[in-house]
Amino acid sequence: MNPSPSSSSAQVHKGLEGITVSETRLSDVDGARCQLIYRGYSIDELVGKASYEEVSYLLLCGHLPTRQELQEWNAELASHRALEPEVLQAMSSLPLANNPMAYLRTVISLMGLRDPAAEQLDPPILRQQAIHLIAKTPTLIATFERLRRKRPMLGPRPTLSHAANFLYMLHGDDPSPSQTSALDAYFVLLAEHGFNASTFAARTTVATQSDLYSGIVAAIATLKGPLHGAANTKAMEMLMEIGAVEQVEPYVQKTLSDHKRFMGFGHRVYKGEDPRAKHLKRVAQELAGLNRAEARWFEISERLQEAVWKAKKLSINVDFYSASLLYYLGVPVDLFTPMFACARMAGWSAHILEQLADNRLIRPLALYVGPRDSTFVPLDQRPATPTT
Ligand code: COA
Repeated sequence: MNPSPSSSSAQVHKGLEGITVSETRLSDVDGARCQLIYRGYSIDELVGKASYEEVSYLLLCGHLPTRQELQEWNAELASHRALEPEVLQAMSSLPLANNPMAYLRTVISLMGLRDPAAEQLDPPILRQQAIHLIAKTPTLIATFERLRRKRPMLGPRPTLSHAANFLYMLHGDDPSPSQTSALDAYFVLLAEHGFNASTFAARTTVATQSDLYSGIVAAIATLKGPLHGAANTKAMEMLMEIGAVEQVEPYVQKTLSDHKRFMGFGHRVYKGEDPRAKHLKRVAQELAGLNRAEARWFEISERLQEAVWKAKKLSINVDFYSASLLYYLGVPVDLFTPMFACARMAGWSAHILEQLADNRLIRPLALYVGPRDSTFVPLDQRPATPTT
């Protein structure tokens, strides 16, 4: 059967490339100028000055908090950080050996199932649910790591910041100020990024008037892929495969001749370097300086950045230096993508609120290119083997 000629002259935009589907007040991903703005503030202004707590407030509430507002926000986050005993119990009965993103997706879904207000879409309730998930996700990830390593559980400490709490719960001791500020910068830089695939999935989900938890689950499921969030894990695996600075050139040549991709390079929107990358590079370099025995991961990264640019004029993206940065903080490589989810929880939630504040069902079209006018043949008259 031949595909029918299309009766429509519709132009197909594969991957929705270049299509503007909505307005947003949350961030401007300016591909031509390679700039990223959160609610009016360049990330160059925010990183190193505003904490993740302030940035999550900015995204969800629309302005930078006053001292009083920040104190209240921090207190709310602190009151939501611990996992309920029932969630902990359920977590220990789930499989721990598979993809941590699948685990995260499942536990967030369980949290939605347990929330009696999950189906309510009023903004104050949605904001509460957002705080709940922003606060709990780092605890969930650290707890997952402790469960699978059969280490004793550690709850959050009210005196520690969002970033410091995660490192404390993961490692069991107080992080240094430089480790805390490195993770805080990472969280700030990855908090929000326009209509990327996972955010779009979240907005599409809630645009059906489904609930916030379902939107976040859809976002996590979408972030999980290597062309999106899992590129940070793949980038670290690539650095480990290279292993030494002298191996960078041969690796680049082989990757090119095998027509494979360099993970952490290229971007759909940015025409040059991802504006987050230089900040992540600086932080990774600082951490490498404090960890001389492991300095090679930064050195390999820097050499690879140069070599790929020279060979293919490809720039690095957010995931490239995220890899060594998270590695230096002692985060296991397969937890890099859940760390991305931790940071993006603020952006996803803010987008869900924004979508529901001015909602319209998201329902694009597809151009049908299959056959038409096929004649139905009853089952008992069809040939035993399929005809092509
Ligand atoms: N390594 C090697 N080549 C790459 C590349 C990469 N990381 N990214 C893009 N290219 C090349 C493609 O091979 C293609 O070349 P061709 O036209 O000669 O075939 C061209 O650049 C366009 O690629 P395309 O996949 O159409 O671009 P896109 O806009 O759909 O892709 C990404 C964007 C992010 C999916 C892509 O750059 C990629 O796969 N990067 C690696 C994964 C990654 O780091 N993801 C995180 C994104 S933040």
